[in-house]
Amino acid sequence: MIRRAHPSDAPAIHALIHRYSGKDLLLPRPLADIYERIRDFWVAVEGGQVVGCAALRIWWHDLAEVRSLAVAPEAAGRGYGAKLVDAVAAEATRFGVRNLFALTRIPEWFARNGFEPVDRAVLYHKVWGDCASCPKRNACDEVAVVRPLVPGAADRLLSPDPRVTARVAHVVPPRAPGMAERPGLPVLPVFVHEER
Ligand SMILES: CC(C)(COP(=O)(O)OP(=O)(O)OC[C@H]1O[C@@H](n2cnc3c(N)ncnc32)[C@H](O)[C@@H]1OP(=O)(O)O)[C@@H](O)C(=O)NCCC(=O)NCCS
Repeated sequence: MIRRAHPSDAPAIHALIHRYSGKDLLLPRPLADIYERIRDFWVAVEGGQVVGCAALRIWWHDLAEVRSLAVAPEAAGRGYGAKLVDAVAAEATRFGVRNLFALTRIPEWFARNGFEPVDRAVLYHKVWGDCASCPKRNACDEVAVVRPLVPGAADRLLSPDPRVTARVAHVVPPRAPGMAERPGLPVLPVFVHEER
């Protein structure tokens, strides 16, 4: 069964995420953060146990992220991963968001679930919101993938408008507090947001 998460699911979600964050497949999330964001989460439940989770994060009017997607190895291959992504996609659609993206090390799995690779730079809200302060930002091994939630919605991301790309600003992301200065930081290309 796939359902919205309840606050009482937070410890199980936390434990599930941490099974994979130790393997560098997911970013760790503090338990308090999961409680705070519990309304973003969906869970897969089997035999009364939480065996899967996924969260929706809305970044902009037409851009949302599926994150913290995890299914316990003992429940793998039963379609929970796909159903969790579908639940998150349906929720995004309900809010009028037209594109769902992920940053992932398993783009093949996402390709089976309606996602296409996209240049990470076009996800400028994510790049500035999270990537700029990520310790791995200059050695990121994740692939950006996007799933249009209505036909054609991702065209702007998959083939950026030349008028927008012409206004690409090359900026060095701000250093996270406490992050040591490192010489020769590559520059992240970031698209200037085009207001509608
Ligand atoms: C990715 C994950 C959520 C899939 O969950 P799941 O419930 O097993 O997924 P589904 O049942 O919907 O899909 C299973 C299918 O995907 C395939 N699959 C699993 N991992 C895959 C991968 N890395 N690449 C390609 N296909 C993969 C399986 O072989 C299976 O194929 P089949 O249906 O032909 O037998 C789960 O393996 C997981 O939690 N992984 C670790 C955490 C992670 O990487 N999360 C994504 C972070 S962005």
